[in-house]
Amino acid sequence: MWSRTLHDHAPRHEELPLTREEIAAAVPALTGPARGFREWLAFARAFAASPRTVGSIAPSSAALASRICKAAHLRDAKTVIEIGPGTGAVTRHLIRAVGPGTRLVLLELSGNFAVRLRCEFGSVEVVRGDALHLRRIAKLHDLDGADTIISSLPLANLSSADRTSILKQVRRTLRPGGRFVAFQYGATVLDEVREVFDRTEVSRVFRNLPPALVYVCTASERDPRS
Ligand SMILES: C[S@@+](CC[C@H](N)C(=O)[O-])C[C@H]1O[C@@H](n2cnc3c(N)ncnc32)[C@H](O)[C@@H]1O
Repeated sequence: MWSRTLHDHAPRHEELPLTREEIAAAVPALTGPARGFREWLAFARAFAASPRTVGSIAPSSAALASRICKAAHLRDAKTVIEIGPGTGAVTRHLIRAVGPGTRLVLLELSGNFAVRLRCEFGSVEVVRGDALHLRRIAKLHDLDGADTIISSLPLANLSSADRTSILKQVRRTLRPGGRFVAFQYGATVLDEVREVFDRTEVSRVFRNLPPALVYVCTASERDPRS
């Protein structure tokens, strides 16, 4: 696992031993006029290699990303965590939506995507890790009491036990009243989400491939059982 900005401390053994220049050289797809197409290609390749983990054939649309940002109430947030940022389709909008004092942390399982994110968003903290270990990661990186957690995880592809575990860890990591905003391509996991969060609202975004549902969840009190 590695994190923080590129410059703020010497690499630890678990961090990717790459400088920004090395990453940029390794990922020329991040610049130039065909960047959007290359991003799409990188995403489609990742999907072909690991469809259940990536969960979607294409990066999220601008319409979906902006709906997520609007629902997340980001302007006054102190700490925002994005889980499953992929190639950064939602992240680009998040960066524009958060206030100047907001700490934005990206948690991504894929090493390739984490490298891309680190290169493109040098000032944003990137943690390469598994959402299944969110509590441990939150403690390690001082993320407890986060205002907002945004998720692109393909929750429907997980086992019910893993899904419930992640949802409960999200709830425990949020401050009371914090928001969890997630998108899915269907309503199959809605009942399980509603078991963990006190209030969940759902809206549909048609301008996305495929059309998506945005879940906006709040937990008014910390659940002592979770
Ligand atoms: C549907 S893609 C969304 C990517 C991007 N946020 C977007 O909207 O275009 C899901 C992302 O979640 C990541 N992911 C899947 N399982 C994960 C896990 N357990 N922990 C962290 N990230 C995970 C995948 O690698 C992928 O980047």
